[in-house]
This record gives sequence, C-alpha cells and structure tokens, in this order.
Amino acid sequence: MDDVWRREFQQRLLEWYDKNARKLPWRVGVLPYRVWVSEIMLQQTRVEPVVAYYERFLTEVPNLKSLAELSEERLFKLWEGLGYYHRALNMQKAARIVMQSFQGELPQSIEALKSLPGIGDYTAGAIASIAFGIRARAVDGNVIRVMARVGAITGNVSERLVKKEIEDVVDKLLPHERVGDFNQALMEIGATVCIPNGAPKCQVCPLNSLCKGFLEGIAGSLPIQSKKKPRTQSDMSVFLIRFENQIAIRKRVASGLLPNLWEFLSYEGFLSNEQIKEVFRQWNMEVEEILPAPSSQHVFTHLVWNMQGHVVWVKNKEESLEWVWSSKEEILKKYSIPSAYRAYVKFILNQ
Ligand code: ADE
Repeated sequence: MDDVWRREFQQRLLEWYDKNARKLPWRVGVLPYRVWVSEIMLQQTRVEPVVAYYERFLTEVPNLKSLAELSEERLFKLWEGLGYYHRALNMQKAARIVMQSFQGELPQSIEALKSLPGIGDYTAGAIASIAFGIRARAVDGNVIRVMARVGAITGNVSERLVKKEIEDVVDKLLPHERVGDFNQALMEIGATVCIPNGAPKCQVCPLNSLCKGFLEGIAGSLPIQSKKKPRTQSDMSVFLIRFENQIAIRKRVASGLLPNLWEFLSYEGFLSNEQIKEVFRQWNMEVEEILPAPSSQHVFTHLVWNMQGHVVWVKNKEESLEWVWSSKEEILKKYSIPSAYRAYVKFILNQ
C-alpha cells in the first residue's frame, strides 16, 4: 500500500462520510459515556432499532454514576427488546469499576478499556478512536466485509489469520486526524453501500476505483466465511395463565439463556389439552378453560424457540415460590420480559 493510495482512500472515505453519514444521536455532542453506551447497544444489533432505545436509556441514565447505581430490574426493563442482556449487566459492572477505580471517567487507553467487562478489541477501539481520538482500529463485521472486498482477500475471514491480515491493513490505513470519523465511515459504508449477501452498490461507492474486488469483478462473492452450524430447534408450549385480572409469570434462573428475566410459564413440547391439564395438576392448579393463543417463533444465535401459546384460565390462585401473579400494568411497566415473548405480551395487553 503506497502513501498516495492510502491518502486517496482516507480522503474519499471521509468526504463521502461528511456528505452521507446518518444523523445518529451518539454522533452529536460526542461524550465518552454516550459513545460507550451506543457501542454496547450496537454489538450484535443493527443501527436503526437501537436509536429509540438509546435515547430512552440516556434520558433516564444520563451518566456513569447513574448507571452504576441503577437497579438490575430497571436496567433490564430499559434493555427490554434489545436482547443479549449480558451486555447490559457487563456495562453496569464496568460502570461500577470505573466509579471505584478510575475516578468515574472511562480510561483513555485501549488496554485499560479492555480490562473492563463487555469491552473487547472492537469496542475498545471504537471508544478510544471516537471518544478520545486515539489512533486505534475498530474492526467489526462491516469493516471486515469492506476490507475483504477492497483487498480482494479470498481467504476465509472466519479464520484468525485472515482476520489478522485485515486488521493489519486497517492499522496502516488509519489517518492521524479524524480517526473516529474514519472508523465510523468504514462501518457506515459497510452498512449502507458495501452491503452483505452479494449485493454491494459498487456503482455509487466512492472507493470503487481503489477496490480490487470491484476491479476484478468479485466484490459480490466476498467475503468468504465458514457456514454457520444449523440452530437447535426447541418446541414449547407457552401458558398465559389467568386468574381474574392477573397473569402468572416467573423469573428465569440467574445463569444461561436470558438470565433473571421474567417469562410466562412454559413446558417442553407441543402439549395437547389433556397434557396441559396434567402439567397444571403438578403445579397444583386446576384448569377451568384452555383457549388458543398465537404460535410464535424466536431465533437466537444458536437456538430457535417454536412456541405454541395457550391461555389457561385456572380455578385457584396457587401461590408459589416459582411464580408471581402480575397485573397487565406491571407486565408493561415493571417486569422485563424478553422480546422472544413479544407476541404473547402483545396478545395479553390486547385482551
Ligand atoms: N456500528 C457500531 N458502531 C457504529 C457506529 N459508531 N456507527 C455506525 N455503525 C456502527
């Protein structure tokens, strides 16, 4: 890579960014805390759905101190719908460490940032470059795709060495000024122009005449990635248990999938009405009536839930350590129910 090529690349990318960057709330009045929250929310999540969560979160939790002091229940409620809740927990853990050990200010080095829970290579680089102007790379999936195409890299980007090759190229490409904008511009062009699934918009790309993949006519077939393993399918019956105007919900265990979040009671497999009555006998509840509720599917990273819903009216309000009886208002305002159950929350609220 010669200097002329590098300068040309930086210039075209930044000029394009100045004209085309989406107006996103964390790009206005750049503050370390705000950048951090945005980067955590954006891990594994697209930009568009994050915007509304981000603004709501910042209104209620405007700084590190308030995050460190927030209750877990409220944290989950504000995160409800974003998924991957361990991100929120790690972020709060990190906020507490920053309050205790870094005088309440996010540290200004890659190494110190990476010592905090939930901050890995990518996120440390993003915060360091965007918030502090430190010349550090921030290579996410978008950037890998862009750079694999620009360099016509035909190795498998799921492999450590190929990813390292891309990181080394980005390291060399980083400008000495506006490095945060440069990193965001690379992500942005990946998200809006150099898009995945074989359909890059090369005709409108400011980098096209610098792009080996485009010049060789292979941009659309890159990057090469390992095929993902098929997800495990899990069939389950979901019970919207009703007694008068209340609904039974339970807290999930503290480890594993969706830890500590609230959910409707459920049982493995698609059960017949007879089987449902038997399950309820085990829970000491006598079934009055079973009515159909929608079926729904939720796709996790490695798992798919296939859910069949049932409204189950019961004759007795059994109290248990396993569940609580909640009103619709409490479901809406107090308990954090993951979006895997969105169809059922909606259904209940409309009943
Ligand atoms: N994805 C993660 N962080 C981003 C940012 N700052 N801009 C655009 N896309 C992103």
